[in-house]
Amino acid sequence: MLIRQGVLIAFCFCLTVIVGREEQSQFNDATPYTIMFGPDKCGNIYKVHFIIRHRNPLTGMYEEKHARQPDTDLSDYFTDHNPHLYTLNLYPDNTFEILIDQTLINNGSLLEDMDPPVMPPREIEDPEDTKPFNWDDRRRIPDPTVTKPDDWDEEAPRLIPDPTVFKPASWIEDQEPFIPDPEAQAPHDWSEEMDGEWEAPLIANPACSHAAGCGPWKPPMVPNPAYKGKWKPPMIDNPNYQGKWQPRMIPNHAYFEDTQPFRMSPVSAVGFELWSLTGDVLFDNILLCDDLMIARRWTEDTWGQRQRPGIVERLLFATGKRPWLWGVYVFTVGLPIILFISFMWPDKRFGPSDQDYYYKKIDEPQPDSPQDPEVNTSFTDNGPSNSTSLRKREANKAQKKSDLELKVFK
Ligand SMILES: *[C@@H]1O[C@H](CO)[C@@H](O)[C@H](O)[C@H]1NC(C)=O
Repeated sequence: MLIRQGVLIAFCFCLTVIVGREEQSQFNDATPYTIMFGPDKCGNIYKVHFIIRHRNPLTGMYEEKHARQPDTDLSDYFTDHNPHLYTLNLYPDNTFEILIDQTLINNGSLLEDMDPPVMPPREIEDPEDTKPFNWDDRRRIPDPTVTKPDDWDEEAPRLIPDPTVFKPASWIEDQEPFIPDPEAQAPHDWSEEMDGEWEAPLIANPACSHAAGCGPWKPPMVPNPAYKGKWKPPMIDNPNYQGKWQPRMIPNHAYFEDTQPFRMSPVSAVGFELWSLTGDVLFDNILLCDDLMIARRWTEDTWGQRQRPGIVERLLFATGKRPWLWGVYVFTVGLPIILFISFMWPDKRFGPSDQDYYYKKIDEPQPDSPQDPEVNTSFTDNGPSNSTSLRKREANKAQKKSDLELKVFK
């Protein structure tokens, strides 16, 4: 499957399937899908969804199974304003691959990497089973044989006044360190009614200027050597420990086996689920087929055509986000060129200009190499005029081979 779309802002693309054989005219937003695949940007969360609707063979109900999101940071694909090619490959061995621009970003197995799993667990915890009230799941217990020593004083404070420090002789306890400034006056416009009672600003008490300090003296506090805190018995391993209680396992009545989730409901239409607050969401060239070669060739003929300019463009693009790369480029490309020129330039002023080997070609003329054989012979007839018919032919071939009943819709 192959999807190509232009500048993507926020949308989810969905491959929708009509379960049963409804008329195409009845295809609408309520039609259940088989596969939902495509990019999704929501706020700063960038995802490529791959969701299948799987039919539970016991209940006949369909359940959504989501592929786990990869750890890779996908934000560049959403913010670079370039078209990207989104590819989902599904294989009959129940594995899948998700690629963006031909680069694998997520892969896994339909049996192991979907959430919730396609197959329910074989056994489940018995909901009837309850933990016995005398079940002992304490791994460690207080040692019951040890009691609090008689001399253990739980009341001793953690901090005590330092017994080695005494009040300095010049300390004046009956003077305040700060007093109201006796020279300060209430401002003229002070109104006791409006502003409340006027208070003079505080100044350092002049009586204390020669003292070590004023006011009540307090010694500093230090840790109390007699402090013990609350007594606790030492912990020991619980001899009656029974382990963590777990309900017993019983067979899951909802269990079923489906080792072939790859065999999904037949796909008979393709639809889009679009939700966007911005314009410029463009997409085209949707291919759904059962032949990887066709998909690859199609990729080559469409998206591949635009990728040719390649390496230089990509290096330039990279500088958009990381301007320091210019420095790297100048160093790795520019500097060697400058060095090469300055060392190799035949400068007659310094060279042995009188010797004529200077500008002489010393290589013997070589015969031309034979014409390279055409590499892509299979693509030579892919002119724009007849590529459509080629695709049609290939698509028809693919349809015949199909064991999935997938169809190509243009
Ligand atoms: C996913 O891709 C990796 C690397 O190509 C490969 O080692 C691994 O087997 C793949 N997993 C599945 C389930 O195909």
